[in-house]
Amino acid sequence: MHILVTGGAGFIGSTYVRALLSGDYPAFAGADVTVLDKLTYAGNPANLAAVAGRPGFRLVSGDIADAPLVRELLVPGSVVVNFAAETHVDRSIDDAGSFVHTNVTGTHVLLETALRQRADRFLQVSTDEVYGSIPTGSWTESSPLLPNSPYAASKASADLLALSYFRTHGLDVRITRCSNNYGPHQHPEKLIPRFTTRLLAGRTVPLYGDGRHIRDWLHVDDHCRGIQLALERGEPGNVYHIGGGTELSNRSLTRELLAACGADWSAVRHVADRLGHDRRYSLDDSRLRALGYRPRTAFAEGLRATVDWYRSHPDWWATRAEYDARYANADERRDTPCAASSSLEVRQPGSVH
Ligand code: NAD
Ligand code: DAU
Repeated sequence: MHILVTGGAGFIGSTYVRALLSGDYPAFAGADVTVLDKLTYAGNPANLAAVAGRPGFRLVSGDIADAPLVRELLVPGSVVVNFAAETHVDRSIDDAGSFVHTNVTGTHVLLETALRQRADRFLQVSTDEVYGSIPTGSWTESSPLLPNSPYAASKASADLLALSYFRTHGLDVRITRCSNNYGPHQHPEKLIPRFTTRLLAGRTVPLYGDGRHIRDWLHVDDHCRGIQLALERGEPGNVYHIGGGTELSNRSLTRELLAACGADWSAVRHVADRLGHDRRYSLDDSRLRALGYRPRTAFAEGLRATVDWYRSHPDWWATRAEYDARYANADERRDTPCAASSSLEVRQPGSVH
């Protein structure tokens, strides 16, 4: 068995690969694993250091939109798990070009190659953001796609392309749509690692708008287990929600992070809201639960362990905290930087984190 994991050097992809190569998914035991990752600002080979020497594993640096390279790596009969994406909503608001390139064109190249090479299965890792925002209740897998941000629109486009390859060509495509993930190895541009690393450095944290936006938080290990279940027991052409985490407003989550990092509300700065900011996401995940899915990580315990991981890995996030100039400028418009106050400070010249 050969598994091509695209985007496997990022937060969730690397968690999946580490679990896979550590024997957590017995149905795939002994498989050869190729990670194809462009190693953008979000990709980090160090995320795969724990499994780098395993037999049958290789990391290839490259773009999923590079058709000749994908054809070389996606050997006939492969299982494809596509994590590769541009993933940060704020960046997509600033410039959506790379989101269309990777999330739409890249996914198309993977699908086309999977079809030609007769891939065994193709799992597209997607997101609850494709549905837009929901004030009450939860989306089912047949809810209409109403994405708001350019990121979400690019992911919805990829989902529709993926489903078209099932309906038109019969390619075995499965899609998972998950809620907000947290855990070790997440880039410090996202809320939990951003607030954690700033608080650990004695800095303030920027809360967008009124802070009453709601997200459903799921530990990354549970997300990966859900993906594996959809691969093993799902049906071709189906979409599976992965949720069942913990719904929290950003204010409530901020309070938890302040407590975990020994800070108080005076560390919170209210800053201008994100454009088109989705108010609430919520998934009905009963379809995957019928296959046996249950989240295992209790939020309080998972968050504590995550904060501890960032506390004990300052070298990992110091290098990840560098923002490129374009993003730093976008952030600056919303967020006034505060004075450095700790030896863990990782601000780079010209960047704001
Ligand atoms: P991430 O930003 O941490 O990692 C993305 C990875 O993709 C990086 O390693 C990056 O180098 C790679 N990549 C980017 N462009 C590429 C290209 N053109 N070719 C090859 N590799 C490329 O993202 P993540 O949080 O791990 O998300 C992984 C997937 O899960 C994404 O598809 C995302 O939409 C989805 N998802 C994420 C969440 C979440 O909360 N983080 C929730 C639901 C779904
Ligand atoms: O729901 C799944 C999605 O979750 C994934 O598809 C995305 O790839 C992932 O980035 C995440 O998107 P969000 O936009 O929900 O995550 P983010 O961490 O950027 O923001 C979470 C909430 O916190 C959101 O309401 C915006 C707010 N926020 C975020 C940051 C970075 C702040 O208030 N301040 C911040 O500095």
